[in-house]
Amino acid sequence: MNRVFSELPVSVFEVMSRLAREHEAVNLGQGFPDGAGPEDVRRKAAEAVVDGWNQYPPMMGLPELRAAVAGHYKHWQGLEFDPDGEVMITSGATEAIAGALMALIEPGDEVVLFQPLYDAYLPLVQRAGGVPRFVRLQPPHWRFTEEMLAGAFSHKTKVVLFNNPLNPSCTVYPREDIELLARFCVQFDAVAVCDEVWEHVVFDGRAHIPMIGLPSMRERCVKIGSAGKIFSLTGWKVGFVCAAPSILRVLAKAHQFITFTTPPNLQAAVAFGLGKADDYFIGMRGELQASRNHFAAGLRAIGFPVLQSQGTYFINVDLAPLGLNEDDETFCKRLVAEHKVAAIPVSAFYAMEPITSVVRFCFAKRQTTLDAALERLAGALRHVGVS
Ligand SMILES: Cc1ncc(COP(=O)(O)O)c(C=O)c1O
Repeated sequence: MNRVFSELPVSVFEVMSRLAREHEAVNLGQGFPDGAGPEDVRRKAAEAVVDGWNQYPPMMGLPELRAAVAGHYKHWQGLEFDPDGEVMITSGATEAIAGALMALIEPGDEVVLFQPLYDAYLPLVQRAGGVPRFVRLQPPHWRFTEEMLAGAFSHKTKVVLFNNPLNPSCTVYPREDIELLARFCVQFDAVAVCDEVWEHVVFDGRAHIPMIGLPSMRERCVKIGSAGKIFSLTGWKVGFVCAAPSILRVLAKAHQFITFTTPPNLQAAVAFGLGKADDYFIGMRGELQASRNHFAAGLRAIGFPVLQSQGTYFINVDLAPLGLNEDDETFCKRLVAEHKVAAIPVSAFYAMEPITSVVRFCFAKRQTTLDAALERLAGALRHVGVS
């Protein structure tokens, strides 16, 4: 058996989901919204199943969806992509990341990863033969410096896998940080695989800055997006990859033998959705921002030190200032058993030297769900003398 997968322990995500079911907890661990998603987009998918094409679509994705992706990024991010040579549709961002790593890495190549990191990254890098080099980010700002990058990049670096906005730290990186990372990519001749699935879920008027938009990065960047996050339909698993033709050509070979294609009906619905009026996207952000504000205020009122959530469906609390004598995982296990709220310890997103004081909650839930959670959380800090 392959060691990368056979030696993977049961993840904290699975443990927390099982505990949430056992204790009938309000589950703010998993990252999906409890709304149904935009009805017009779902109806398009239903129509496309009943009246549309249900056989293999083109390997690169439906032409109408590739055109919609290019049009969407031009409108929202000022980017120019040729839908025929620079856009490919995948079965979710995860397939795009797996394909990009398979296509770009030779065994022994180094891959720079930022901790905390999305759980799929490390096994996929290792399975592709890559050697991880970590940049360790920490609260409260989770930003990286020139010195940190200098410690991770080397002449063996082939790829940097960069998630912005970053889950789970909820950081939307400013231009200066992206420019700094780009300078390292150019200096070490590395390709940036940019996981931008949260690009539309940004708050407080922040702008998402796509790295591929920097002139020096246009030919050395893979931009990855996901309809799941844009339309709050996380089960759909429709991803987009944009890259210069010389890179996309090789990524397409990996995609050809991983999934080959993605359900045509969902592709048709996403093509429709990407062309929706600006109101939808702005409204979606506004609703999530209101949920974030509501939940953050509730957490603060209870006494939790809340970290800034600049984007994503999540918000973190840092237990360190409370002087608790337990780590984030112990705290989460106690929280679900005693207070019936499930959350995720952020240490689970570190492969080494974890930060052990930060706990992540998903606020992309109805207000009644958030209020039920806050009511249960009210007693959670009493034993440390807070509130
Ligand atoms: C950073 C990041 N990348 C990728 C994904 C997965 O995207 P998809 O469902 O399109 O595969 C997620 C989902 O939560 C994510 O947070």
